[in-house]
Amino acid sequence: MRHDIRFYVGNEYHALASIAPTRTLLDWLREERGLTGTKEGCNEGDCGACTVLVVRLEGARLVWRAVNACIQFVCMLDGAQVLTIEDMRAPDGSLHPVQQAMVEHHGSQCGFCTPGFVMSMVAGRKAAGLAQDERGIDDMLAGNLCRCTGYAPIVRAMRHAMQAGPDHFDAMADDMAARLRALRDGATVDMTGPAGRLSIPATADGLAHTLLESPQARIVAGATDVGLWVIKGLRDLPHVISIGQIADLRRIAATADGLYIGAAVTWQEARAALAHILPQPDEEVFRRIGSVQVRNAGTVCGNIANGSPIGDGPPVLIAAGAQLHLRRGDTRRTLALEDFFVDYGQQDRAPGEFVEGITIPAPAPDTLIRAWKVSKRFDQDISAILGAFSLTLAPDGTISNPRIAFGGMAATPRRATRTEAALAGRKWTEATLAAAREAITADFTPLSDMRASAWYRSTVAANLLTRLYAECGPQAARASTSVHAACTATGEHAHG
Ligand SMILES: Cc1cc2nc3c(=O)[nH]c(=O)nc-3n(C[C@H](O)[C@H](O)[C@H](O)COP(=O)(O)OP(=O)(O)OC[C@H]3O[C@@H](n4cnc5c(N)ncnc54)[C@H](O)[C@@H]3O)c2cc1C
Ligand code: FES
Ligand code: FES
Repeated sequence: MRHDIRFYVGNEYHALASIAPTRTLLDWLREERGLTGTKEGCNEGDCGACTVLVVRLEGARLVWRAVNACIQFVCMLDGAQVLTIEDMRAPDGSLHPVQQAMVEHHGSQCGFCTPGFVMSMVAGRKAAGLAQDERGIDDMLAGNLCRCTGYAPIVRAMRHAMQAGPDHFDAMADDMAARLRALRDGATVDMTGPAGRLSIPATADGLAHTLLESPQARIVAGATDVGLWVIKGLRDLPHVISIGQIADLRRIAATADGLYIGAAVTWQEARAALAHILPQPDEEVFRRIGSVQVRNAGTVCGNIANGSPIGDGPPVLIAAGAQLHLRRGDTRRTLALEDFFVDYGQQDRAPGEFVEGITIPAPAPDTLIRAWKVSKRFDQDISAILGAFSLTLAPDGTISNPRIAFGGMAATPRRATRTEAALAGRKWTEATLAAAREAITADFTPLSDMRASAWYRSTVAANLLTRLYAECGPQAARASTSVHAACTATGEHAHG
């Protein structure tokens, strides 16, 4: 058992034996470390002015992630290195290639957004597998807002910086990897101070035990929801259990039952695996969950456990037939994801129980899965409505096993059972579509709120069915069958 948290800020080692479990990294950096280059803009994860890099040793390699410091708790950094804008100059005083490119391409007009942009760009250069095309760059910068200059010079700077050679962090990587390796002691952390108690269990068994002992404690995975309760809602959390680094909850695995995603797996980490099993929703939905910074911290299971009626994950995962794994002590149970959501703010989770992971079955052959997020803004916006559809189409156009789920249409993410009944066993024709459109108005009585009116939500929900018909109706299905045949012939795997 350890009673402090240990991490680096730049090259400086810190061991903190007393810190409030909900002290944000942004406040700590600025107020206690005097590192005021990290700015506070929105203080709610939206603007990216507070972007810092969190570097972790994963296996033998360093992984760099941009996160919003305003919604990260310091306690979550145990075992990591944090880099701020102050670390970007090389030891010889020269600018980082990203900073140099921002200067050369006139990407900066103010000191407010620029540090955050630079940090996202540095992370983007380091991110393995990040598309380095225009879309990849837009994606990388979607979590950073500039209110004045426009993005074109910043994108130009990024394009240029992508081509630049190694930076001083590359030269120091082995040294930092050795230092982070030395921090790995496999210990459980328990700290109690005047501002509350922090537990960081080393294993899932440890988490199960701690939660049985303290069922009122608040689990924090990525803190992208909980962070807002603290900063905006001023909520007191007397006992925080941080689970983000529990190795056995960070597992992504192909199992006999499908794709398994552990409770501490982030959206960014799950993305490639999800794209394999749910190809089109990745394009439409998973890429639009928050921003890179939010997806780097927020977890798939946190999105579920939060129980929000407008979370983007649950409708897609329900349509895909996902199963949720819950654990209390040594007792485990598995339930269909839709059954987890009981009512607004109420989930089927007993005191002391936690989400251990989720399994998404591989889609049956000829299954079409589609999901569309409708929000006021393309990036960084919460859904007004999200419709997710899965159905199997026989060669003669008969629909079987329809699973349709919506977010934003009820107090919980919910299946559209009447609409499913209107489709099951029918031929996919315009008459069937009309019946399904009718049924969907019976399935839901949505609310009006600041995101959309009830009328808008009902209209869009029916229109998403029409879009499904247009994109996946009999004619589209024939096209997809020939794609399937072509891919099988070339040894590739075709989805939907
Ligand atoms: C700027 C911004 C943009 C966002 N955009 C989107 C968006 O586009 N779409 C969207 O759906 N969401 C969005 N979110 C919300 C959030 O990012 C997601 O819901 C995220 O997946 C939450 O995961 P987390 O790990 O951060 O959860 P946390 O904040 O750590 O936890 C959320 C809740 O789940 C509980 N919990 C977490 N893990 C477990 C577990 N294993 N067992 C039991 N309980 C658990 C916590 O106690 C808490 O009640 C956004 C948030 C921000 C700040
Ligand atoms: S201050 Fe805006 S994202 Fe943190
Ligand atoms: S240059 Fe900072 S807000 Fe635009």
